[in-house]
Amino acid sequence: MQHITLTGLYGTPPAELAAAPEAAIQFSPLIPGSGRLEEQAEGSLAEMHVLAPPGTVERRYAMALALRALAPGGPLTALAPKDKGGSRLAKELKGFGCAVSETSRRHHRICACERPSRLSGIDEALAEGAPRLDEALGLWTQPGVFSWNRPDPGSALLAQNLPALSGRGADLGCGIGTLARTILASPRVESLMLIDIDRRAVEMAGRNVADSRAAFRWADIRSSGAGLAGLDFVVMNPPFHDGGAEDQSLGQSFIRRAAEALRPGGICWLVANRHLPYEAVLKSLFRRVTARAEAAGYKIYEAMK
Ligand SMILES: C[S@@+](CC[C@H](N)C(=O)[O-])C[C@H]1O[C@@H](n2cnc3c(N)ncnc32)[C@H](O)[C@@H]1O
Repeated sequence: MQHITLTGLYGTPPAELAAAPEAAIQFSPLIPGSGRLEEQAEGSLAEMHVLAPPGTVERRYAMALALRALAPGGPLTALAPKDKGGSRLAKELKGFGCAVSETSRRHHRICACERPSRLSGIDEALAEGAPRLDEALGLWTQPGVFSWNRPDPGSALLAQNLPALSGRGADLGCGIGTLARTILASPRVESLMLIDIDRRAVEMAGRNVADSRAAFRWADIRSSGAGLAGLDFVVMNPPFHDGGAEDQSLGQSFIRRAAEALRPGGICWLVANRHLPYEAVLKSLFRRVTARAEAAGYKIYEAMK
């Protein structure tokens, strides 16, 4: 019989709470380059460490995938902050047939168990968390992706205010591709690069944006310029949360990346929550910054390089 030795990791659990071996294979869809847990053969992992995601459907899906990929008897460590799903983790794992022991440390609940020989409820959790065509949105989406089951009001406001763009452009943090669909309605757009750190979003955007002018990249805007240069336009609704905590520097990195990617005279269209201090960064990197609209707590900027 083949000896199973692979360790899997999902996300980056705080090292002091759950040390995972360095050789572990990363499976988080939010870490570009990671493996696909959906495609990992059943029973092929010896051990698994999971920082469980906050959304209930997304978390149950990730835990079901982790348990399916584990060999029977293989140890699973799953943890989450108490107020971000941690308090429900033990019950959910028990529902899958696991005998769980639970500890509490540093505002996290840490669950340990072995993969039972018989799992229960796995197929339901996998079906619920899988990509789906949302009838109301008319789009492919997946639980866990940004604004996965409701239109984002900021993006809607930006879409209403976008002029018909032209030339070569990029959609930074493309999500499931809602803004890209508006952008590509202009026949004068020659090409559009859609980039997101979330593999699931990039894959759903690929299904939602069937247009030969579109290209897709799974990348972290902070560490990869994705070869963007000399663009005529950039459109974005930058994130202001990283791992659940407000992080204004993330949005500022998006603005910097947009400025680098544009040609002189190129335009960046941006929507942001009104309270976010992006105006100073925009003004330091662009020749002209104009507030084009404001509604429902959001502000739209047009910035010329
Ligand atoms: C506010 S949402 C906008 C999504 C989409 N453009 C829309 O309007 O519906 C921001 C997007 O940025 C992505 N994102 C967050 N951090 C990122 C990073 N470092 N690099 C690339 N994309 C990132 C998120 O996954 C999310 O899809």
